[in-house]
Parts: sequence; C-alpha cells; structure tokens
Amino acid sequence: MSQATYASVYENSVNNPEQFWLDAAQAVEWVTPPTKALDDSKAPIYRWFPDAELNTCANALDRHVEAGNGDRTALIYDSAVLDIQEEISYSELLERVQLFAGALADQGVKKGDRVLLYMPMIAESVVGMLACARLGAVHSVVFGGFAPRELASRIDDSKPTVIVTTSGGVEPKRRIEYIPSVEEALEISDHTPSAVLVHEREGFENSVADARERAEGVENAPAWLSWTEALENAEPADAVTVAATDPLYILYTSGTTGKPKGVVRDNGGHAVALTWSMKNIYDVGESEVMWTASDVGWVVGHSYIVYAPLLVGATTVLYEGKPVGTPDAGAFWKRVNDHGVKALFTAPTALRAIRKADPEGDFVKDYDISSLKALFVAGERLDPETYHWAAKVLGVPVIDHWWQTETGWAICSNPFGIEKLPIVAGSPTVPVPGYNVEILDPLGDPVAQGEEGNIAVKLPLPPGTLATLWGDDDRFISSYLEAFPGYYATGDSGFIDENGYVYVMGRTDDVINVSGHRLSTGQMEQIVATHPDVAECAVIGVNDPLKGQRPSGYVVLKTGSEISEDELAKDLVKLVRSGIGPVADFKDVAVVEALPKTRSGKILRKTMRQMADGEKYSVPSTIEDDSVLEALHSILAPKQ
Ligand code: COA
Ligand code: AMP
Repeated sequence: MSQATYASVYENSVNNPEQFWLDAAQAVEWVTPPTKALDDSKAPIYRWFPDAELNTCANALDRHVEAGNGDRTALIYDSAVLDIQEEISYSELLERVQLFAGALADQGVKKGDRVLLYMPMIAESVVGMLACARLGAVHSVVFGGFAPRELASRIDDSKPTVIVTTSGGVEPKRRIEYIPSVEEALEISDHTPSAVLVHEREGFENSVADARERAEGVENAPAWLSWTEALENAEPADAVTVAATDPLYILYTSGTTGKPKGVVRDNGGHAVALTWSMKNIYDVGESEVMWTASDVGWVVGHSYIVYAPLLVGATTVLYEGKPVGTPDAGAFWKRVNDHGVKALFTAPTALRAIRKADPEGDFVKDYDISSLKALFVAGERLDPETYHWAAKVLGVPVIDHWWQTETGWAICSNPFGIEKLPIVAGSPTVPVPGYNVEILDPLGDPVAQGEEGNIAVKLPLPPGTLATLWGDDDRFISSYLEAFPGYYATGDSGFIDENGYVYVMGRTDDVINVSGHRLSTGQMEQIVATHPDVAECAVIGVNDPLKGQRPSGYVVLKTGSEISEDELAKDLVKLVRSGIGPVADFKDVAVVEALPKTRSGKILRKTMRQMADGEKYSVPSTIEDDSVLEALHSILAPKQ
C-alpha cells in the first residue's frame, strides 16, 4: 500500500469529515461506539459523536492494563527542584487514580460535578485529573502562578463541589504556599465547595491542621482534609460511563475582558482527536516517550502531558523545573538523555532562555540525545533566529505548531507522522487535517493569497476543540462565531503563502503572550485603573527578546497627583501581582501626559504598540490630537 500523503489525508478530512472522524474513532475504546460523527442540528454549535459513550480515564489507563501492559511506565515524575525521579507504571497509576476517585466520591463528587484543582507539577495533579475523568466529574485546573482573585473568579464560575490542592509549589528561588491562596480565594468567592483536599508536601509553612483551625467557627467553611485522610476509608472507584458529548474539563483562559473564558472540552471528540494527533502529528505511540515541558495548568499540559500520551499507551514526563537555573541550561537535554525522550514539546521562550545561557549549545554535548526525533514548539510564534539555533544545536527537525486553549490541539503543524514537509522558518507549516483555515478581511471576505488578514477556521471545527464556554453559549457565539458567520474567529492574524504555508503574525485583540503564558492587557488595565492616582491608562504588549512579549503600562495621573513614577510603579506592580499573579510579569510603568485617542475616545493601542516595537506605525485619520503621539514618541520608541 502506498504511503498516505498530507494532501490526500487533508482533502479527505475536509471533504468527508463524517467518515474521516468515524474511522479515527476506531482507535478509542467505547462503551457504545459512535454510529454518527457530526451533530449539526444546533449549528453553529456543533457536537461530535452524539450517540456514543465512553470513559476517558478507562481509555487512558484501564485499557492498557487490561491489554497486559500494566508494567509499562505511564508517568515519569522528574523534579529538578527537588532532585527526584519517580517512574509510575500504568498499573500503579490506575490504582492511585481508582483510590483517589473513591476519595472524591466519598466527598460527594459525582458525574457532572466540578472539581477545581489548584496544583503544581506533581504526580498528584495527574492523579486528580484522571480521577475526575473516571467519575465523569468535570475538572478545572488552575495554574499555580495565578493569584487568589483569579482563583476566586474560577471558583465562582465553575462552582466546584471539591477543591483539590497541595501545600505548595516549588519555584527555583522560593516556595509558593497554596493553602493561604485557597483560603483567600474562598474569602473572596461567593461559592464555597463542601471540601478542600490537600496533598501535603514537606517544606511548607501551612498545614491542613492550620487551615482547619482557621476555618473553625467560620460560617459555611469547607471541610479541610489531607490527601491521606481522604484516602483512609476510600474504596477504588469504577469508571463511570459518560456521553461523548459530556464535559471532561473546563479550562479558563484570558479573553479581552477581566472575566476569563471557561473553555469546555468534551470526552469523546477529545479522546478521538488527541489519539489521532499522537501518531499523525507527533509520531509517538505505545511505549515511546513524550515530554511536554509545560504545566498542567495550561492547555498544552492538559493535552500532551496528561491525556494524549496516556491515551496511546506512551510514557509521559512530568517535569517540575525550569529550562535554565535548575540548575543549568542543560536541564532539558539531561531529561532527554535520562528518559529516552522521542518527542520534546516546549515554548519558544524556553529555547530563548536556554540559548541566552548557552549560546553555543555546549550543554547538549554533555548528553546522549540520540533518542530525540523532533522538537515541537508552540505558545507563541517561533522566531526564525531561535528556530535556526535550535535546529543547529539539536540536529533534529524543530517543528513550530500553532494552537490555542480553545482548540486543544494544533490547528497548523508539520504533519510529521503523515509526511515530513519541508520546514520553513517563521511558519507553523500547514493546516492540520480537520481544520479548514482561511484568511479573511474585516468584512469576512477571503483576502488575496499572501495578504495578511484574520485567520478563521471554517465550521465545523474538528473534534476535540471547544464545545462551548462554561454555562455561556451566548458568549461562546459572540466571542468566536459572530465576527465571520460560518467560521470560527481565531483572534490571530496572518497569511497563507503560495505553497499553502500559514504564517501566524499576532493577535488582533488585547491578548498577549508573556513567556508562553496567555494574558489579557484589558484585565491589567482594569486593575491599574483602580489606583487612586490613575486617571487613565493603557497596557500594551511590547516585544521582548526573551519572553516574546511583556506588558507595559502607560499612565496618565489625576490632576494634582504628586506621586512619583517610582512609587506609582511599585504600587501598580503590587496591584497586578495580587490581582492576576506573578506570572503576569507586569514591571514596566511610564507616566505620560496624555494617551493617543480617536475622536470617539478609543485609545490607539495598536499604534502605541507599533511605536514601542520600533515598527512603522499607522495613525488613523480619526485621531483626536496628533501632538499626543509626537510627545509619546520619546517615551515609547525603543532606545537605541
Ligand atoms: N507558581 C507560582 N509562581 C510562578 C509559577 C508557578 N507555577 N510560574 C511562574 N511563577 C512566577 C515566577 O516565580 C516569577 O515570579 P517573580 O516575578 O517573583 O520572580 C513570575 O511568575 C514570572 O515567572 P516566569 O514566567 O517563569 O519568568 P522567569 O523570568 O522566572 O523565567 C522562563 C523565564 C522563560 C525561563 C520561563 O518563563 C519559562 O520556563 N517559560 C516557559 C513557559 C512554558 O513552558 N509555557 C507553556 C506554554 S506551551
Ligand atoms: P494559548 O491559548 O495560551 O495556547 O494561546 C494561544 C495564542 O498563542 C494563539 O492565539 C496565538 O496568538 C499564540 N500562539 C500559540 N502558538 C503559536 C504559534 N506556534 N505561532 C504563533 N502564535 C502562537
């Protein structure tokens, strides 16, 4: 039989999606197999595999154990910050998950209930997520770098029955205490879960006993239980059958406003798409090792640290550490060497950090990285310089692929497992089968080839992409489906060249990417505006050689304010850290006389960003006062 080409697979996926995805669905173990792939009865909201049933956890664990592969390694927990390497087999992971699912059930968690996990990069995070999936409960993982206020907004939106957390996270220079953050979030939130289960780690100041004591006498306080206490009387729980269309998880991501969007992922489409992607994009299968150096709090972590590798019976590496400084710039290559990693997935910012510390790639020479067949990157555009550096020092294909929390898996990639297409620096290559990508002008008409415009995906999106926003179909439709009827608006702009290669150039909205972390400048502006001396402000994402982008705040002071720029900067940094979290990395503040605006009062953020990036900037004819821009130039323009 001749080898399938990307072109033939792609054509098949967009011309006959029904059969394409029913075929792909055969790789999943169903309780009730699908007889139909697409349900378009409620378009523009589409659902996949409407008549099928399964359990995602059973697909990730039980099926491999039942097939006699329980001794294979499912998970390698590798902590560079604690110097621990632990291998967990499929059988052991299944046992841990069954028992923890039993403990959750003891706390009243049942199918459809939400469980919020505020967890760092430890094995218990994976156990917690899979235990929810086992019960048919919906997990919502919150990244540890978010502040209590962000946690509170997720508690109020998802209304969890139980919160699962741990004593804390270990950052290279400090320990982050999670228990006080959860307590503070619960003080702010309206919703209270019935229990908080805490995995206790050594070396932290706050214990469950402390939290319990503090909660005494507090009206409506949740029960605080340690992980060990919760497991004491727990019975292993069976996998609960759910509809393919039932939600598996909610993952909150930044939108343009302060209110995060709760992206909902279903069970069936997710299992099918991720299983398909492992072979066809990453070329990783049973017993092979995939390492995704991200965090379980991000979508990349959900898909390629936890679910996808386990769905196909591969080994996944859970790395608690940084690309540099834990202890050196050889940390990544050491793990490839130690675990025989075949596919490594990271963010461009991590590569830039390594390159800065080790420009010649000397650390690579200290390790045997011959197991590595490809390096995948996502989270932000892979700039050509970083691409060339990584390709040279590693000697393997370096594959940029473009995706979003909303899609859950790649929209554009080199289809490495189908056909290795030539790599072009600066492009995430071509649309992945299932995604019909087009470039549209502001009116929704296709632009000429090579011309930049809004990147949109023709509906229906393939399986595994967002089903809706949690409890808010209207916001789902207004955020993504209304701008270009019949299409999903990605919020990114870019172009397609004559070879069909896609180039993703940046966001068209107020979303920025700082060190591969997606943040909202609109949300930062809302926080900055609460300072008593601030009359007006704009926060824009400016180019940063290490982090991709960094947020910069420009503030107009209230008349009569006497606060110094330094003092204001200190206050604002503190406000944003406590409002969003340290991960916002908000450090730049400048006081300006006025902000450039249109006559209708809209701040010209794009013009400011172009000016700050040293680009040719566009000045709309509707500008209120040109002199404001001239005055800003000396503050905004990059210093030579
Ligand atoms: N919990 C608590 N705080 C966290 C955190 C977490 N999980 N992750 C980061 N932070 C904090 C850091 O401690 C730091 O705090 P500080 O300002 O008090 O020092 C702040 O958030 C910013 O951290 P970070 O974004 O990690 O920046 P950095 O300068 O410390 O490190 C990199 C730069 C490039 C090494 C780092 O950002 C990195 O590894 N990025 C890769 C990100 C990634 O993989 N993203 C996945 C997308 S696919
Ligand atoms: P997130 O939802 O955090 O994954 O962020 C998604 C956004 O990150 C996208 O909309 C893009 O703006 C950006 N992004 C992710 N991957 C890439 C990539 N490979 N190239 C360009 N931009 C990317």
